[in-house]
Amino acid sequence: MKKNKIFVACDTTSIIKIKRIIKETQNSNIKFGYKFGLQFLNSKNGRKFVSSLKNKITFGDYKLADIPNTCVSTIKAVKDLKFNYITIHISSGLKAIKAAKKVSGSTKLIGVTILTSLDNKSLKEIGFEKDVKKLVYKQAKLAAKAKLDAIVCSPQEIKIVKKIFKKEIITPGIRLPGDNKGDQKRVMTPKQAFQNGATAIVIGRSILKGKIKNNIQKLIKELN
Ligand code: C5P
Repeated sequence: MKKNKIFVACDTTSIIKIKRIIKETQNSNIKFGYKFGLQFLNSKNGRKFVSSLKNKITFGDYKLADIPNTCVSTIKAVKDLKFNYITIHISSGLKAIKAAKKVSGSTKLIGVTILTSLDNKSLKEIGFEKDVKKLVYKQAKLAAKAKLDAIVCSPQEIKIVKKIFKKEIITPGIRLPGDNKGDQKRVMTPKQAFQNGATAIVIGRSILKGKIKNNIQKLIKELN
């Protein structure tokens, strides 16, 4: 299972918890990375902690959704953190994602498609006329056009994205068997996501709730 890459969503403000996650994910034949989102990055000691990490695969989940100028200046502003990956919403538009790609340098730029917490009903509420699959397909085309390095989509759209986008496909919306979906709508288990062709998965609450050590063991067992 060497090919599998797993990003643990470090959705907490507790550095102790994150250190535990890092400790429990060493010495496995699975490649682990650590995803830091808005909660941790905006917490008092979050940024400093990320800057102290050495030899880890890191993922800054900023989910930029802004005008080209702001996307570009934000990517420049976090260069010192040397993230391996950073996210931008493809819905920021082709100009914004192209401009962001121009300045992202060695950090891989990931285009985020329709959030995994949305379904066709929620899209209609926002005013989108197309369904999830059609929108994700369109967004994958834009990501390819802007030469982004990776796409975030739900595991349910991997096959559609693969038709058009040939680089990394990273899927959140992952639950260990038996776990609650919570606010996520389009979910699969880690095994199903990899079987569908994900190159990496993102998993948060299935790891963070309860005993981190046991959850990570359960995850590793599921994939071995
Ligand atoms: O706890 P859970 O596994 O649902 O967390 C999923 C993580 O992936 C969260 O950090 C969330 O912000 C992120 N994410 C997502 N859906 C996307 C993009 C990112 O759930 N489309």
